Amino acid sequence: MREAARRLKSVLQELRRSIKTGMATLEIDQKAERLIIAQDAKPAFKGYRGYPACVCTSINEEVVHGIPSKRKLKQGDLLSVDIGLVYKGYVSDSARTWAIGRMSEEARELMEAAQRALYVGMAQMKPGNRIGDISYAVQDFVEGQGFSVIRDFVGHGIGRAMHEDPQVPNFGKPGKGSKLETGLVLAIEPMVAAGSWEVDILEDAWTVVTRDRQWAAHYEDTIALTEKGPENLTGPQSYEAASDQIGII
Ligand code: MF3
Ligand code: CO
Repeated sequence: MREAARRLKSVLQELRRSIKTGMATLEIDQKAERLIIAQDAKPAFKGYRGYPACVCTSINEEVVHGIPSKRKLKQGDLLSVDIGLVYKGYVSDSARTWAIGRMSEEARELMEAAQRALYVGMAQMKPGNRIGDISYAVQDFVEGQGFSVIRDFVGHGIGRAMHEDPQVPNFGKPGKGSKLETGLVLAIEPMVAAGSWEVDILEDAWTVVTRDRQWAAHYEDTIALTEKGPENLTGPQSYEAASDQIGII
């Protein structure tokens, strides 16, 4: 899992460097596919329930599962890139949100809330804690920032399959759900909306948008619960280390 994640991390870093204003999201997908293959890995999303691409590119009011297309990135767009790969049978899954060219104050707050929420959730990954402790911590933090958490989509266990038990909702009650044990690997993925949490699915049957069309941000990492505590396999180990990645590309 570590090795798969390490490869995904470097793919995502390189992908970030290649993204430019004016680029079509389909070009991001093509670049991602080349980078994944160069890592001796396979895209985890392509063909998953018929999904047609290697990445999800979700812009502004799109929350997750946006399909790469000819749509070009504009200055000020808020782009979420979600990507997964399989290496030697092990799956890794990660997502980031970036502002294109410039960043409004609200966009920055939204990105920061989603990123911070991931670390707030990760801090609850302790043996004996339960999934609900993660869920509650994420929800409590995000709502405290004045934003909402998407409820129709959840994080998940991850391993030889992309989606394994248990589900990891971004809302819930402390002390509920299954117990966390050393060896468990979770994809924690806060999806944070500026307005209401309600969503619609577009006619392409994939793209999830907020019903009120306010913007959303999405952060995801593959995180293992080790004897030494949670280890972020696809991202920086702490929010402080991650926060310099906030921002503009
Ligand atoms: N990263 C998404 C998740 O966490 C998976 C994308 S769905 C796919 O569940 F169809 F695009 F693969
Ligand atoms: Co995921």
